Amino acid sequence: MTVEEARKQFPHTWSEIVYLNHAAVAPISFRVREAVDNYLTKRSLKGIEPYPWAQKMAMETKVLLAQMLHTKAENFAFVLNTGEGLNILASGLDWKPGDRVLINTIEFPTNTYPFLNLERQGVIVDRIEPINGEILPEQIEQAIKPETRLVSISFVQFLTGAKADVKRIGEICKKHNILFAVDAIQGLPHSYINVEDSNIDFLSSGSHKWMMSPEGIAFIYVNERARKAIHQSHLGWTSVSEPFNFSLQDPERLREDAGRYEIGMQNFIGIAGLKASLEFFFEFGLENIERKVLDHSHYLIDRLSLRGVEVLTPAEETHRSGIVSFALDNAEATHERLMKKEVVTSIRQGRIRVSPHFYNTEEELRKFLVELFD
Ligand SMILES: Cc1ncc(COP(=O)(O)O)c(C=O)c1O
Repeated sequence: MTVEEARKQFPHTWSEIVYLNHAAVAPISFRVREAVDNYLTKRSLKGIEPYPWAQKMAMETKVLLAQMLHTKAENFAFVLNTGEGLNILASGLDWKPGDRVLINTIEFPTNTYPFLNLERQGVIVDRIEPINGEILPEQIEQAIKPETRLVSISFVQFLTGAKADVKRIGEICKKHNILFAVDAIQGLPHSYINVEDSNIDFLSSGSHKWMMSPEGIAFIYVNERARKAIHQSHLGWTSVSEPFNFSLQDPERLREDAGRYEIGMQNFIGIAGLKASLEFFFEFGLENIERKVLDHSHYLIDRLSLRGVEVLTPAEETHRSGIVSFALDNAEATHERLMKKEVVTSIRQGRIRVSPHFYNTEEELRKFLVELFD
């Protein structure tokens, strides 16, 4: 599939709008709309009861997620959002006063509140300061203490766009026998990740940003080690094996797979959209998506730096993903001016954040730069 063909899925590209804000929320493609519509049509006609056909669709979606993250479908559960996923982790571990969690000072709040909430139980949250917008594996290794039980980090940082070296961090966590969690919402599907190879125990990601799916559908990856460690704080009828055996009410008979963290009726509407989006990405090719996104961030960093703009995003290709942020004296006013010209970016902590996806074109980036320096 070519970029031109992919763009046909997004009606906003036929208008004046230049949408460069996928780190906030993404447009919905025709394919996702159609999948959601088909799901609802089926529910109103021959498939009024979603079981078991919608369950099958959910399992097929987990297979696609597993393909993207290089693991098995049994390691996935659907949740509402990234935050709910991380709360399943934080609230499910058996904490003792004095236990420590290691995060950093540049995390999006989704990846801090679930752990700060543990301070009430005497858990200590350590936060690393970044170096040039990045958290380096060496810093993590140095900050680990004997009481550290969990390291949690964003795959891609929401402001600077720095991509964490999850492979190295995973090795460090494994060496110190510490659980390793990742908030992956800013890195999927456009940045390669192999959760098994990187010793990631837990990963949480919403789908409304780069995954280009409806809001309110997210997924968690929970490996066997993490499943053993997380004594889930919420339990429902779908958490157990034989969920349709309603008379056997025994909380010990949990499902073996990560589906045990799903506690009831699923958001099949969202799952239908997510599945269509994943199929679309695989058709274009995940490697091709990554190449396009990296080329865009390279182009922007290059052009902005040439104009003397202070870019926050690491220039090195292996240290970045799709986000490019930069400082300007009049950032707020510039952002407003861009919005008036229908060039959509974000303002985050006083910086302008640009986040083009694979279907964006160099021509659109040029339009952004022309309007920026106008
Ligand atoms: C790094 C990061 N994590 C999580 C979120 C969102 O979390 P949730 O899916 O819980 O809304 C965002 C942005 O909204 C983000 O940038």
